[in-house]
Amino acid sequence: MGKKKIMPGPGMDLIGKEEKEELLEVIESGYLYRYGDTSDPQFKAKVWNLEQDFAKYTQSNYALAVNSGTSALLTSLWALGIGPGDEVIVPGYTFIASITSIIFARAIPILAEIDESLTLDPKDIEKKISSKTRAIMLVHMLGNPGNIDELLKIADAHNLILIEDCAQAFGASYKGKSVGTYGNMGAFSLNVYKTITAGDGGMIITDEKELYDRAFAIHDQGHLPLRKGVEQGKRTILGLNFRMNELTAAVAKAQLKKIDTIKEKLHQNKKLLKEELSDIEQIEFRKILDKEGDVGTLLTFFMPTKNSAKKLADKLGCVTISESGWHVYSNMEHLLGKMTVTKEQCPFVCPFYNNPEVAYKKGMLPKTDDLLKRGLNISVGVSDPGLGSAFGITINDSPEKIQATAKKLKKTIKDVL
Ligand SMILES: Cc1ncc(COP(=O)(O)O)c(C=O)c1O
Repeated sequence: MGKKKIMPGPGMDLIGKEEKEELLEVIESGYLYRYGDTSDPQFKAKVWNLEQDFAKYTQSNYALAVNSGTSALLTSLWALGIGPGDEVIVPGYTFIASITSIIFARAIPILAEIDESLTLDPKDIEKKISSKTRAIMLVHMLGNPGNIDELLKIADAHNLILIEDCAQAFGASYKGKSVGTYGNMGAFSLNVYKTITAGDGGMIITDEKELYDRAFAIHDQGHLPLRKGVEQGKRTILGLNFRMNELTAAVAKAQLKKIDTIKEKLHQNKKLLKEELSDIEQIEFRKILDKEGDVGTLLTFFMPTKNSAKKLADKLGCVTISESGWHVYSNMEHLLGKMTVTKEQCPFVCPFYNNPEVAYKKGMLPKTDDLLKRGLNISVGVSDPGLGSAFGITINDSPEKIQATAKKLKKTIKDVL
């Protein structure tokens, strides 16, 4: 593969002959669609096989391939029956798609604080629960699992649904089990910034047959799984088309086989970077709730003040996490103010229009603001300026390059402090 200047995610960096071979098989087979003649050996059923591989890797009963992480979230919300009148608690630090999917399900996103793990703060969730709360959306940000034990306790105590947004965390686990398997449904993304990629794409996992059947129908025009029993009169759900095609699945299948190598390399590289910084007492590393379960895509730390963080980011040519665009609620201009979403922006009549109880304001999550203003994301394998991680290393960097980057980072931090 020709060397590109920007390599957004680790999977993208490792694209090679395996993906090419899988893709060629599809092109030569003549079947580009997930459905084909199963009696024809030419039909490779890549989407179906990817689903089986994904379910096996995550140890979940069912996996469903879709065309993006956003549609994985939306399909999950719909499959779970979340809709008008329901509130869904979601962190103020995520990617906007988590919030948008709740809006497009016509439910109300209730923003909650994050803690030093940069995932939902269980203490704040308790404060945000109301009689309308139906679900919590836990986002495993930056490759690291959130506080699953605490969230499960809260969800159980209040009879709430738990949805896991694992878009940034394929390969992450908590206490030995893949993220996405603890909640009712888990949603993953295969866009270019993620652990593994197929350009775009998404996956849903669940252990519940009924949820799988509903999700399948929603993602494919109301059909039963694999369109078995498509006779008129048998469809009970209206669906749309969020299907994955064979080309995407071919690339994703080859990428999935690389996940162990990716994780191993990321862990090694992150260790090298972290060790170099370990004697700087003034910085605090992000809280990692499960060291083995962290994918290791980013090294995140907090500077002592927002000014020192800003200075450091300027010198490194990146931004503090608070400036990382639509990952932070206070930068989501379309949500701020007196519910400024118009019918033109969102074609549904959202139930919270002109609802004075639901207003998103800058400063409404002070703990999140403080952490993100002092926080920096250094790339270990995801170099995404939109995430604030323009500075750092990529998965294919040599140990010498990693050492040099680590030394530069250390010197710059010391100069700023
Ligand atoms: C936390 C989170 N949720 C959802 C998504 C949406 O995924 P996709 O871009 O595949 O639609 C992303 C993608 O950036 C994400 O980071």
